[in-house]
Amino acid sequence: MRIVAAGAAGFIGSHFCDRLLAEGHSVVALDNYLTGSPANLKHLNGHARFAFVEQDVTRPFEVEGAVDAVANLASPASPKDYLRHPIETLDVGSAGTRNLLELARSKQARFLLTSTSECYGDPLVHPQVETYWGNVNPVGPRSCYDESKRFAEALTMAYHRQHGVRTNIARIFNTYGPRMKLDDGRVVPAFLDQALRGEPLTVFGSGAQTRSFCYVSDLVDGLYRLMLSDERYPVNLGNPCEMTILEFAERIRALTGSRSEIVFEPLPEDDPKQRRPDISKAMRVLGWEPRVKLEEGLGPTVEFFRSL
Ligand SMILES: NC(=O)c1ccc[n+]([C@@H]2O[C@H](COP(=O)([O-])OP(=O)(O)OC[C@H]3O[C@@H](n4cnc5c(N)ncnc54)[C@H](O)[C@@H]3O)[C@@H](O)[C@H]2O)c1
Repeated sequence: MRIVAAGAAGFIGSHFCDRLLAEGHSVVALDNYLTGSPANLKHLNGHARFAFVEQDVTRPFEVEGAVDAVANLASPASPKDYLRHPIETLDVGSAGTRNLLELARSKQARFLLTSTSECYGDPLVHPQVETYWGNVNPVGPRSCYDESKRFAEALTMAYHRQHGVRTNIARIFNTYGPRMKLDDGRVVPAFLDQALRGEPLTVFGSGAQTRSFCYVSDLVDGLYRLMLSDERYPVNLGNPCEMTILEFAERIRALTGSRSEIVFEPLPEDDPKQRRPDISKAMRVLGWEPRVKLEEGLGPTVEFFRSL
């Protein structure tokens, strides 16, 4: 297949390109480097089946030749990034997604949207199932991301219903691994950075809020299977192994051998109290479930951060 991947210079996008190339496909990668980096794709320079185009997907663009699939991974994803770029975040979820859907429609290609567990907001249903409609504050600071993704999902369903585009929607939960940005404000790089520097680990609130972390190779495997499937409604992709932030801080300390103390700071506005995917649909429809245990995934992640 020849696949157009938008957001390819980002954390997940670059791993997704690696997987597509490993499967023997050709990739046309698009990115405007808003939050991504050329370093994430450096190893693919000169690859015979890989082409990169610096392109803001919210602007009009064309891709020449046949296209079999379009994958939209373009969007700021960490709270730090989308709070810094709220309008760009809304633009890429709306105009960017529309341009990529139009490309898929005109080429009669498949279309994959990377949406997010943030569509569930601060969830009142736990664990989160795809049929839960969410509890999102539409005007809070995080709404630029949550509502952008909810709009992108609605637009994707409209293109499927109106134009018969073969669409898929992944609702991704917290993912970690090499090529994450050290300073993106997410808890995995933040704790690892602090632990490796011997600085205090900052826990927001009491640390009783829960998260679950999926290793990037598992996530990319789920995305790949979903892109080849006929499932049109959203599918959760994440690791259901849930822990409190405080427990996670302790595990990072143990893994890195750090003696950093743990300090507490006020909880940010609209921070979800609990987060765990119900992945029974992904197991049923895609035959997918995460395989990499936290300790196994943190090893290469720590190595990556040390190398920086
Ligand atoms: N990382 C996670 O835990 C997570 C969780 C849920 C959803 N997601 C989703 O997965 C996708 C990838 O996330 P990530 O963690 O790799 O983020 P990232 O910031 O590392 O990558 C996003 C990429 O999109 C690019 N981009 C942004 N706006 C663009 C535009 N207008 N035109 C072209 N490129 C643009 C950025 O430059 C960047 O390279 C996003 O859609 C995100 O919402 C990620």
